[in-house]
Amino acid sequence: MTVDKGYVDAPIEPGVDLKEEIRRLKKEKGAVILAHYYQKGEIQDLADYIGDSLALAQIASKLKESVIVLCGVNFMGETAKMLCPDKTVLIPDLSAGCSLADSCPADEFEAFIKANPGHTVISYVNTSAKVKALTDVVVTSSNARQIVESFPADTPIIFGPDRNLGNYINSTTGRSMKLWDGACHVHEEFSVEKLIELKRLHPQAKVLVHPECKRQIVILADKVGSTAALLKYAVESDAMEFIVATESGILHEMQKRCPDKVFIPAAPNDSTCACNDCSYMKLNSLEKLYNTLKYMAPEVTVDPATAERGRKPIERMLEISEKLGL
Ligand code: 13P
Ligand code: SF4
Repeated sequence: MTVDKGYVDAPIEPGVDLKEEIRRLKKEKGAVILAHYYQKGEIQDLADYIGDSLALAQIASKLKESVIVLCGVNFMGETAKMLCPDKTVLIPDLSAGCSLADSCPADEFEAFIKANPGHTVISYVNTSAKVKALTDVVVTSSNARQIVESFPADTPIIFGPDRNLGNYINSTTGRSMKLWDGACHVHEEFSVEKLIELKRLHPQAKVLVHPECKRQIVILADKVGSTAALLKYAVESDAMEFIVATESGILHEMQKRCPDKVFIPAAPNDSTCACNDCSYMKLNSLEKLYNTLKYMAPEVTVDPATAERGRKPIERMLEISEKLGL
C-alpha cells in the first residue's frame, strides 16, 4: 500500500459492496464523513454531513468523533485540521487542490501585505494554511459581506485571493478593499453568451450565481450566494426552473431537495459539455474513500506553528459568524 500518488493505491477485492463497506468501516473506525456540495453525488449520499465551506468548518469545530474524513479539497482538510489539531483528519485524495488557493502563493501574498502596511487582512477560506497564517480574519462566501461590514467603514482592508468575490463585496458594500488578483478556473469559465441563451430558452428560470463568477455573470443573477445560500433560495422559491452558475455537484442536493423543480447547469466557454465540474473536487471517488477508511490514510497534516497562527483567523470567523447568526 502506498500514498505516493496522493491517495491509497491498494487493490480492492473484487465484488466488494463499496457503499456498504464504507458505512461499516466508518463505524468500526469511529469516523465521521463530511462532504462538500461539489462532491460526486454518491459521496454526498454517504456523508454524515454535507455543506458549504462555512458549514464544514462549523461542523468540524464541534465534532466529538476523533477521526474526520473530509471529502472535499485540500484547503478544507487543512481548515478542519487547524480547528481540530488533536483529531485525525483524512482526505481521500491529498492532490485535490484548488486553482483559487494556488493563485495566491504565501510568499507573494506576504510581500503584498508588506507593500500595503496598516491594512486588515481578510482572506477567503480557499487559501493554503500558510496564507491563513498571514491573515487577520478568514471568510467564506456565506459570510464575507457581513464580516467585511463588521469592520468600521474606513478600515483599510486587503482582500484575497478571489478578485471576483472581492469586487462583488466592494460593489455591494461601497468599500474599496485592495484585492489580490486571483480566481477560480471553474467559476471564471462560465460563458455570458451561453447564459443569455439559456435565459432566452427558459424565460421563467431564476438564475443562481456563485460570487466567484465574473461580474458579467453576476449581473445576470436573480440570486448571488454561497452554495448553501443558492440551495436555500432554490428550496424556498416559488419558481420551478433554475439556471445554476456554480460547480455542477450542487445540482445533486438541489434535485434531491426539490424533486419537482428543474435545475439547468450554466455552461463554460470552451467546452462541448453542458456543465462545469471542478476537476479537483471530482478526484475523490468511492474507491478512494473506501481505501482511506480501510488504511486510515492519507492524513492531512499542517506544520504546528503554521496551524497555530492559521487557527486564530478561522476561529475569529466562526465567532463573528455565530454573533451574526450565520
Ligand atoms: P462555498 O463557500 O459556497 O462552499 O464555495 C466553496 C468553493 O470552493 C467555491 O468554489
Ligand atoms: Fe477551488 Fe474553484 Fe474547485 Fe472551488 S470550484 S475548489 S474554488 S478550483
